[in-house]
Amino acid sequence: MLNPNENGYKVAGEIIRNGGLVAFPTETVYGLGADATNSEAVKSIYIAKGRPSDNPMIVHVSNQNMVKELVKELTPMAQLLMDEFWPGPITFVLPKTDKVPDVTTGGLSTVAIRMPSRDEAANLIESAGVPIAAPSANTSGKPSPTTASDVLEDMNGKIDAIIEGANCDVGIESTVLDLTTDTPTILRPGYITKSMIEKVAKVQVAYDQSLFKKPEQADFHPKAPGMKYKHYAPKANVRIVEGDKEAVLKKIDALKAESEKKGEKVIVLDYAGDGDMASRDFFRDLREGDRAGVDLFLIASYDWDEVGFSVMNRMIKSAGYDKLDV
Ligand code: TXA
Ligand code: MG
Repeated sequence: MLNPNENGYKVAGEIIRNGGLVAFPTETVYGLGADATNSEAVKSIYIAKGRPSDNPMIVHVSNQNMVKELVKELTPMAQLLMDEFWPGPITFVLPKTDKVPDVTTGGLSTVAIRMPSRDEAANLIESAGVPIAAPSANTSGKPSPTTASDVLEDMNGKIDAIIEGANCDVGIESTVLDLTTDTPTILRPGYITKSMIEKVAKVQVAYDQSLFKKPEQADFHPKAPGMKYKHYAPKANVRIVEGDKEAVLKKIDALKAESEKKGEKVIVLDYAGDGDMASRDFFRDLREGDRAGVDLFLIASYDWDEVGFSVMNRMIKSAGYDKLDV
């Protein structure tokens, strides 16, 4: 563990420049960072996470100047959105230059770029002096880490250092927005929502249609390769009950009683439709429940706001698509 101070950043920056791996906090989730321009270093991220090699990384920068050498062309739309939302929890997909190795983008001709708002992330990137490729710092398939101890649980012995910072307050990963098509398209929903983007862009923004499909459907072809993999699964089972508030809560009570009769330990996750709260707490609740030996999480899904829709995208995957409509 490294402290987020001058010495910590100096050591961490050297590790990155030498091809090593450093986990660090961002406002969304903890990232597992390596020099984005060093193929060998990026390969070791895939190994530490057990991540499929066709799943591209997000490249993190600490200022807009760093973007210029990574992308072929910065369109006026990309510039507008970067000025408005960066630093912050949104990632832009743009055509890449040769400076970005193929392993970083999983062989794609585009690159996903983000400028995180947390000081720890910015200081690390500055100290390293290179753009940092960083997926979420969890073992592939598990809930994303929002605390330094979550990272330690998954990555102990597999990486060189963790910068220890406060817990992540957004709590779900960044919005991924594809800017390579005529209509800006959300490939992964996040804290920066469709309507927030539309307000600034002054054009319609689309959702990648795969967001509304199940993996077993024939026309499920997400543009973000990562969206097709098993994700966010705790050890315990997860079931979602969706519908009218009253009906949902009644059904959840019944399911809870049924499960407890079998001697199971049950946790009900009810965020009362509050997307901000759900976003901040959901992954943390899953990991805490797992540590406490829970058998079943029951998620109450009703009255979601727009951020709630983004959290629901994670919930449904963590439940393996087990959703009961009441
Ligand atoms: O908030 C975040 O974005 C966190 C923190 C650490 O910054 N990072 C993160 O990275 O969530 P990761 O690797 O867990 O998720 C990256 C997502 C994946 O779904 C991936 O497929 C997609 O972004 N992605 C990356 N590059 C892409 C590209 N060139 N085209 C389409 N999708 C891309
Ligand atoms: Mg991830």
